[in-house]
Formats: sequence, structure tokens, C-alpha cells
Amino acid sequence: MSILSWDDFDDDSQKSATKTAQPAPVAPQKAPVPQVVSDAQPTPQSVAGTQSNQPSAAGRTTDSTDPLVRASKSLETLDIAPGLEELEMGAGRVQVDDKAMINCRADLNQLVPFKYEWAWQKYLDGCANHWMPQEVNMNHDIALWKSENGLTEDERTIIKRSLGFFSTADSLVANNLVLAIYRLITNPECRQYILRQAFEEAIHTHAYQYCIESLSMDEGEIFNMYREIPSVARKAAWGLKYTQSLGDPNFRTGTPETDQDLLRNMIAFYCVLEGIFFYCGFSQILSMGRRNKMNGVAEQFQYILRDESMHVNFGIDMINQIKIENPNLWTKEFQEEVIQMILEGTLLEIEYARDTMPRGVLGMNASMMEEYLKFICNRRLVQLGLPEQYPGVNNPFQWMSEMMDLRKEKNFFETRVTDYQTGGALSW
Ligand SMILES: [Fe+2]
Ligand SMILES: [Fe+2]
Repeated sequence: MSILSWDDFDDDSQKSATKTAQPAPVAPQKAPVPQVVSDAQPTPQSVAGTQSNQPSAAGRTTDSTDPLVRASKSLETLDIAPGLEELEMGAGRVQVDDKAMINCRADLNQLVPFKYEWAWQKYLDGCANHWMPQEVNMNHDIALWKSENGLTEDERTIIKRSLGFFSTADSLVANNLVLAIYRLITNPECRQYILRQAFEEAIHTHAYQYCIESLSMDEGEIFNMYREIPSVARKAAWGLKYTQSLGDPNFRTGTPETDQDLLRNMIAFYCVLEGIFFYCGFSQILSMGRRNKMNGVAEQFQYILRDESMHVNFGIDMINQIKIENPNLWTKEFQEEVIQMILEGTLLEIEYARDTMPRGVLGMNASMMEEYLKFICNRRLVQLGLPEQYPGVNNPFQWMSEMMDLRKEKNFFETRVTDYQTGGALSW
């Protein structure tokens, strides 16, 4: 099975060009309307050229119950001006300086000229890290999970709690991204990365479901933990609080209060949910993998962690860029509120660590995790330009940083078990 390259794709289109006429460029001033012919088959050739751009129902009745007549009539009145972003025909072309992170009036359908190169670069990096859950071999995990003495009860609890939290948390993040953040971030480079991130969140949810299914876990128990297990539920509830007002379709930014609402949401989701709430579970599962247990689950988590560390960095870049463009939002009071949010998130994650590690397990314990989470808390604050709240705290899990820097060319392809099916599926 060979995978099509873009060169092959071009070759194919050249070959077919000798058989099929290519649509000519459409005149820019008028919307393209297919010419209706007597056999009711619109042809690409009729779109352009010297023929009339007006629809005609020649050869068909003028009966208004005829769907073709109704379609032709509707296109006669097609207005090319309105759209989601209020296109202005004949307006000047988009200039870099017209672009802004929020409340921007420039055309959002034009990716270039780039203003936020970092966002485009992250989109490219995200694509370069592409992976799929089915590529990870789960056979050893299944055998170990089913064996009577392979894992301790504490280790089993950690796996269940992690899958319980993450299987729904990534859906919370994805829903917040597409239903709240996406429409309020008004530049196409960032939206391009957000679309990539949304897909990655779908892959993460897929990965958790894949683990749950492979291990034949009780799906109802796992997917309901975020409502039934207090230390999991409190984290989910804390995040949900910040998405409620923005999820309202009538919510608009444009005043200092509403712009701050958006920033609050982004700090809650990027810095706390993805930036703190993921770190206890991730380090527990990765520590298990380092001890040669549940390697498949650990490998899935390792790819997810690599994606997540990019999500956090992207979110912080967006927040800092919004601060630069709107310094009036970053008031002393608001900064204090943000510090409190990051601290609340850290305390909830410490609570989760204590609940999931009543005893030492996997070479770690709750107080080591507490120190690690304080270290992460400091880091998030500094990334936002705010003072550390736990001065002098060290990172007890240096190996986590190495895990995050995983390079796909070093590790990824060595362990993958299948090719992407899209290569084989692209047959014409
Ligand atoms: Fe995720
Ligand atoms: Fe994420």
C-alpha cells in the first residue's frame, strides 16, 4: 500500500485535466451561479465565460413548487455582502495592523498576512506531532490489568481515577474551546491553532475511551466519576463555573467587564484545567510507565501530555498578547483575582493528590506531589507575569520535563503499530 504524496495528487489532477474542462476563474464582482440546462445537470463550464450568470429554468416549468425553479429564484437574490463577519465589498485589503486578538473588525476569513507568527508556528508543530490512539499497543496492559497480582489496589485506583477525570475533562475543554473561546478570538492564525487543538482534544477523549474499552472497564463508573467522586467532581465544577456565561450565544466582548470575562475563562481553562489539573494524574500514570507497568496507557498519556504542554503554552501566549493589546484589562484587582484562581486550582489538585494517594505508591506520595504542584503553580504565575506564591519550591519530578520534550522522531515511530488509513483510503 503506498501513501499518496501531494506530487501524486498534482499529477492526477493534470491527467484528468485533459479529459475534464477545469472551471474558469469566476469574475470577482458577481457570485457564481450554476446555469440551469434542460437536463437539469449544472456543469462547471457554465459557471464562467461569456454566458449569462443569471439562473434560468429553461426547459423546466415555472411552477414554484418545482425545487429547481425555487433554487434558481433564490440565487437571483443572493447577496454577497452579508456574512458572519460582515464582509464589506470593495473595502481595502487586510493589513497586518488591522488584526487584533479580540474585538477585531478586520475580515477573519483571510489567514494572511500573518501578524501572530507564533500561533501559526504552533499550528504547524501540532500537526507535526499527529498521532492516533490505535497506534499504541495495549496487549501488555490488558494482560496485566486482568492478572490477579499484577497491580496493587492503590495502582488500580490511580488508573481508574485518572481515566475517570480525563475522559470527561477533555470534553469540557473541547466544548469550552468551540462554544466559548473560538468565536471571541478574532484573528485567523489563532483560530487555526484552536481548530487543531479542538481536534487534539477529540483524539485525547478517543484515547481515554480506547484505554477504558481495551481494559474492559465499567464505562458507567468511569464516565460518571466527574459527578460522583468528590475530588474529581470539584475540579470539573470549578472549571464549569467559568464557561457558563461565555457559553451563552448572546455573550459579546467589547467592554472591559466582558473582555475580563473572556480572560478569566482562558485563565481557568488554559492555566488551571490544562495547566494544573492534568498534572497529578499525568505524573502518576507516567511514573507507572517508568516502572514498566501499563506501558500502553502510559504511552497514550505521554503523547497527550506533549499536546497539552503545547495547549498551555499557546493559551498563555494568547492571554499575554491580549494583555499587551489591552493593558487596561490587567488591573491590580484583576491580577489579584488571577493569583487567587491559580491558587484555588493548585489546592484542588493537591486535594486530588491526597485522595488518590492515601499511601506512598510508585515511588511517589501525596507530599511530593504537593511540592510538584506548588512548583507548577509558581511556573503558571510567572508565565502570566505574576509573582510566585511558593518561593523556593523545587521540582521533585525532573523526569516529567524530559517526558514533555518527547520528540516524535526519537520515540514515536518506533512504537507505532499501524499506518494512517487515510493514505490507503485516498483512491480515486
Ligand atoms: Fe486534551
Ligand atoms: Fe488540551
